[in-house]
Amino acid sequence: MSSKIKKEKIPEFFASLYYELASLNYQLYIDVAKEISHEFIPENEAFIILDIGAGPGFLMAEIAEQRPIAKLYGIDLTRKWSEYLQQNKRQLDFCLADINFLPFPENNFDLIISTGVLHALRGPEGALNECYRVLRSTGKAVIYDPIPLSHKTGTLSLENRIKGLIYKFYKKIFPGHPKYLPPEKARDIIAHTKFIKGKIESRIFENQNYLKIILEKC
Ligand SMILES: C[S@@+](CC[C@H](N)C(=O)[O-])C[C@H]1O[C@@H](n2cnc3c(N)ncnc32)[C@H](O)[C@@H]1O
Repeated sequence: MSSKIKKEKIPEFFASLYYELASLNYQLYIDVAKEISHEFIPENEAFIILDIGAGPGFLMAEIAEQRPIAKLYGIDLTRKWSEYLQQNKRQLDFCLADINFLPFPENNFDLIISTGVLHALRGPEGALNECYRVLRSTGKAVIYDPIPLSHKTGTLSLENRIKGLIYKFYKKIFPGHPKYLPPEKARDIIAHTKFIKGKIESRIFENQNYLKIILEKC
């Protein structure tokens, strides 16, 4: 694994701070989990789901609330997240792994989910092709990635201002880290993957705008 790829991860010393910040925004995970469950996970099917770049596992935990019979796996490069996931009362599987080299066989998952990861990847096409490989033929990937609210659609909350300041600090340490993925760039990335169908929508959760990317194998 190249050192370049490793840099995408949240540094271990930053994980506790990220955890606190993401907790402030916990409603986001509840809302996204409800949306994903409603749209993509049948209630009576034991779906096998992978969260790529799972972080502290908030989305996984909320999907498990919505769909108790689903089997959830999360992967991430930050070791610290496994501690948080172990504290969760549900059985959430965590694996320390790189999205670019998923440690799973082909045709393994019904659904891949992700929040806030795509824009940070240095090789998103390769990572999405790994998703393609491990998805079943009927499988889908649903990827949410934050984009800025337009000036017309809202003002920044205090919470988002604080996050902005912390982000500036983060950028100083990791200057190569891109802030967000413009929709046209997302479209271009999708066009360079093996996915047959790719749809991009715009969603607002908790005063934050998101690209919602739905990828299908067939
Ligand atoms: C902004 S955080 C989002 C975490 C979580 N999905 C959430 O919404 O709270 C991005 C996560 O992606 C992980 N990550 C980045 N690049 C990765 C890679 N190549 N393989 C695995 N995880 C990666 C980081 O370590 C980090 O936990």
